[in-house]
Amino acid sequence: AVFKDNAEASRCVAREIAALIRERQRQGRRAVLGLATGSTPLGLYAELVRMHREEGLSFANVVTFNLDEYQNLPPGHPQSYHHFMWTHLFAKVDIPAANTHIPDGNAPAADAEESCRRYEQAIAEAGGIDIQILGIGRTGHIGFNEPGSARRSRTRFVTLAPLPRRDAASDFGGEEHTPRQAVSMGVRTILGARRVMLLAWGQHKAPVVRAAVEGEVTPHCPASFLQEHDNALFITDLAAAGEL
Ligand code: GLP
Repeated sequence: AVFKDNAEASRCVAREIAALIRERQRQGRRAVLGLATGSTPLGLYAELVRMHREEGLSFANVVTFNLDEYQNLPPGHPQSYHHFMWTHLFAKVDIPAANTHIPDGNAPAADAEESCRRYEQAIAEAGGIDIQILGIGRTGHIGFNEPGSARRSRTRFVTLAPLPRRDAASDFGGEEHTPRQAVSMGVRTILGARRVMLLAWGQHKAPVVRAAVEGEVTPHCPASFLQEHDNALFITDLAAAGEL
């Protein structure tokens, strides 16, 4: 779906999420959201906060699972995704802290695999993800599934590719301070969501959006695996759709 601009697109995605939350409230059930970080979903989170404040949208029955987290940053670190989520969404709505889940980038090496397995298990126990929000990196990554990520990959620790590390370096005050590893849901984890909404804004995303939507399905562009999902939607502004 192509929108005039990201504000209009973000409002549309927020309305769909709000409809799911309200439907589940009526049924006395929980809504399970998969969430992303980066600049892309900021408009969506701002709109959800507005709906909470002005329209009484409650997040009391919402459970969230974030895609990824950097390795070995304290949770309060300004660049941690934990900090990002609390700043832009969780602290501004009425979601119970216990309902929010972010992969544990601080798991000690000996417990790393087990902590990833527990994350997968927590998703399964919540009943699976209803709506997964995604951004897309310039390499075609989703979460931190860099090119080369297998379709069957699950939550695991991954090494960041040079380009995303360089993209992140300014946030960390230089490449030498930028984490080398992260923990990320796998491609298979993401494809397990019942609905996937990938958001992309701006001309710089146009080539990768084209590769993901029209290119061959390949681990070289992990976002291309979404072509195999029967309920995945790419949501772009005019600029990001410019090469389709
Ligand atoms: C990071 C995140 C991704 C995000 C990507 C794009 O690599 N791990 O989840 O999609 O950046 O970031 P932005 O939305 O700022 O373009």
